[in-house]
Amino acid sequence: MSRIVYVNGDYVHEEDARISVFDRGFLFADGVYEVAAVIGGKLVDNEAHLVRLERSLSELKMGCPVPISEIPIIQRELVTVNEIDEGMVYLQVSRGVADRDFNFPKKEQPSLVMFTQDRPVSGSPKAARGIRVITHPDIRWKRRDIKTVQLLAQSMAKEAALSAGADDAWMVEDGFVTEGSSNNAFIVTTDGVLVTRQLGNDILHGITRRAVLEIAAEEGLRVEERAFTVEEAHRAAEAFSTSASALVMPVISIDNKTISQGVPGPVTQKLRERYIALARETAT
Ligand code: PDD
Repeated sequence: MSRIVYVNGDYVHEEDARISVFDRGFLFADGVYEVAAVIGGKLVDNEAHLVRLERSLSELKMGCPVPISEIPIIQRELVTVNEIDEGMVYLQVSRGVADRDFNFPKKEQPSLVMFTQDRPVSGSPKAARGIRVITHPDIRWKRRDIKTVQLLAQSMAKEAALSAGADDAWMVEDGFVTEGSSNNAFIVTTDGVLVTRQLGNDILHGITRRAVLEIAAEEGLRVEERAFTVEEAHRAAEAFSTSASALVMPVISIDNKTISQGVPGPVTQKLRERYIALARETAT
């Protein structure tokens, strides 16, 4: 069944959606995006996603065709018409149509596109068994805090993972893990310390990451926001990644080294359960 998608003011069947070949999102990856999870037909942590969208736009001096405050109305309409109980809503703002020129157009007409994806989120079978990751060089640009649609380096990392018989890649720069290809990376050390890289320009400031750190603090876990090496990850007691699409995803091997006896670890499971409960409670 064809989805209803949103394109610049119109709700249309996906096969009828049209974007110009001159759209700068298409020609220059000159666009930013957000993904919000849907649980029970409601949006998870959406306000925080929209705050980050505003920041991404402002860092790139890009406008938004509708006030940010109107975006949830469109998101909810798509969730309703596509009858999404669990899944996500993707939204993308690009700098819009202009004749091909590296400089930003003087008069820009940004474009806004949104669509839904229908898939299990809280009851994901992958989360029940955990995923295998490989480490892979992080070849991305230096402003990873901006959520742009230039995702080829991440696609290449995920392809490398698939070729190696794994599910995902954790990216590595100067011997330290930056983040997962589309998620933030966490380990629990054998001393029980939860470690994830500190915020900066070299990782995306994950919305799920922040919520999970708050839960960890409430749980009384010791937390260190710092870079960790590949070797430290190999030796970890537990590992997981966080994202809007996979929530808290247990990692059971890193570069073929088994983590947590090859099953989701207790700290990871606790954080996943608590995050899902919080998401259900606070979704809007
Ligand atoms: N990815 N790091 C990267 C590189 C990401 O692409 C993402 C999200 C995250 C996690 O951020 P959040 O918790 O706010 O989703 C971290 C989305 C889900 C995607 O590209 O599909």
